[in-house]
Amino acid sequence: MQTTYLKVSPTHPEKDVLRIAADCITSGGLVVFPTETVYGLGADVFRPDSVKNIYIAKGRPSDNPLIAHIADISQLEILSREIPRTAYLLAESFWGGPLTMILKKRPRVPDAVTAGLDTVAVRLPSNSVANMLLSLAGSPVAAPSANLSGSPSPTSFEHAKSDMDARVDIIIDGGSAEIGVESTVVDLTADVPTILRPGAITREDIAEICGECVYGGDYSGAPKCPGMKYKHYGPKATVFAFEDFDFTPPAEDGAAVINYEKYRQSDNFYSAGDNDSDYAARLFYLLRKADEDNIKTLYAVLPEDKGIGVAVRNRLLKAAAGKVIRRSI
Ligand code: TXA
Ligand code: MG
Repeated sequence: MQTTYLKVSPTHPEKDVLRIAADCITSGGLVVFPTETVYGLGADVFRPDSVKNIYIAKGRPSDNPLIAHIADISQLEILSREIPRTAYLLAESFWGGPLTMILKKRPRVPDAVTAGLDTVAVRLPSNSVANMLLSLAGSPVAAPSANLSGSPSPTSFEHAKSDMDARVDIIIDGGSAEIGVESTVVDLTADVPTILRPGAITREDIAEICGECVYGGDYSGAPKCPGMKYKHYGPKATVFAFEDFDFTPPAEDGAAVINYEKYRQSDNFYSAGDNDSDYAARLFYLLRKADEDNIKTLYAVLPEDKGIGVAVRNRLLKAAAGKVIRRSI
């Protein structure tokens, strides 16, 4: 498949260019587009054959459901039913933005999108390119992250291109994803709003609006968010996560360290920046860089378990598959 590249301004995207991508989606094609979290790989929600092509392009298991992206809150009712009041309150506070809500689905939402579940994941992004594309398409767009299954999510056009070239019709170059980790997934069909995947919108943010909010899925046993049971975010290097900020790794060939700038060490140092937002924005880039640099062992500092640090820890612990170097005290 020949892939077309379209470059647009990240903040003031050219409408005539995005019209080409939107027409591609409505006529059944696959389009990679930037969002504020990571790049997405989109198809028209109501074209099951196109949605199935997403799974093929990614090499993704078909039991892992997709997020339906919408341009406007009015599209929420096209996709879901019995929408609780908390959904509207959360939308008011956090949409457009990095929050995905799990709601009961309407029968018209194809099983290809929801992997046969009775629920649907819905998100209204804040990225200008994504928003204009979604509104020009006029239909909700099913989109997982635009990486090959098992690779870190792409946070730049270059990363999206290296995974999806020749697998999709169009890749939009709309600059880097600002946040860098995928959206918070919150299940509103549970008795208490339950976070299935942590992201930039925190448990505290949601609890402030809904009164309460708990962690589920990965945190409490049975994975209700099917995607969380697969190994994700993995570079080829063996990853060790460590808790001591001033940990010094053993001297070995092919090793690199990710830590905050103020803990810079001499060799193969990958900077996480100055704070946890910087770390989130760089994490997937650094995991991919480790592969490009042929790193065999990657030691990555774990941020504190608060704010967006919760999401960074979650992705790192998955990449490390349980290999954690605990505090020495
Ligand atoms: O930031 C994001 O959310 C990005 C951008 C492109 O919007 N998208 C993204 O999609 O990360 P994906 O497919 O890589 O992750 C979606 C997650 C998966 O873990 C999936 O299992 C879960 O959401 N999910 C989707 N529908 C669900 C449902 N009905 N019930 C529970 N979990 C669901
Ligand atoms: Mg993904």
